[in-house]
Amino acid sequence: MSSPLAIRRASLTDISSIWQIEKVSFTSPWSLWCFLSELSNPFSTILVAGPAPPQPWETWGYLIYWLAAQEMHIMNLATHPQKRRRGIARALLREGLAQAQQQGAVVAWLEVRPSNQAAIALYTSLGFQKTGVRPRYYEDNQEDAWLLAFSLAEREI
Ligand SMILES: CC(C)(COP(=O)(O)OP(=O)(O)OC[C@H]1O[C@@H](n2cnc3c(N)ncnc32)[C@H](O)[C@@H]1OP(=O)(O)O)[C@@H](O)C(=O)NCCC(=O)NCCS
Repeated sequence: MSSPLAIRRASLTDISSIWQIEKVSFTSPWSLWCFLSELSNPFSTILVAGPAPPQPWETWGYLIYWLAAQEMHIMNLATHPQKRRRGIARALLREGLAQAQQQGAVVAWLEVRPSNQAAIALYTSLGFQKTGVRPRYYEDNQEDAWLLAFSLAEREI
């Protein structure tokens, strides 16, 4: 990482730059409305990564997770294509996992496409383990999802 990284909770002014990253990162991106509704979802947290000190409008990556019933569910994660392989997604995940643990979560879950080798390498490098398969989970190409889990109980992040 050449410049220092800052991670903070997103606000309304971050949603436009988050959505720009979303559109170039996924074949079936979330709509802008989905991101806006996350801001008012009481179960949801949006973390953004950018330069330190924070610069308005400059976003390098984001993580969205839900927290309910002592479970963290990772809903969305992406890094700007020009900022990849600099540890941004790993830092976002570590921060999100630590926050969820502090808030009482005992396990983190996520779904990932088996074809997404970059994401699988990231998650397994952090200690996520494959616990199941959701058949034909992704509507666009009927691809299965792998269900990955990470135990947060009595664990130092
Ligand atoms: C997956 C993604 C979030 C990774 O973001 P990133 O900021 O580049 O990831 P990091 O730099 O933190 O990588 C951490 C580790 O993950 C693994 N990794 C990340 N990208 C990788 C790639 N393209 N190939 C292989 N391993 C990769 C490596 O182990 C890496 O550590 P290293 O760089 O020291 O080898 C990013 O590629 C992305 O936005 N992809 C499109 C959206 C997406 O697929 N999101 C996940 C949906 S489940």
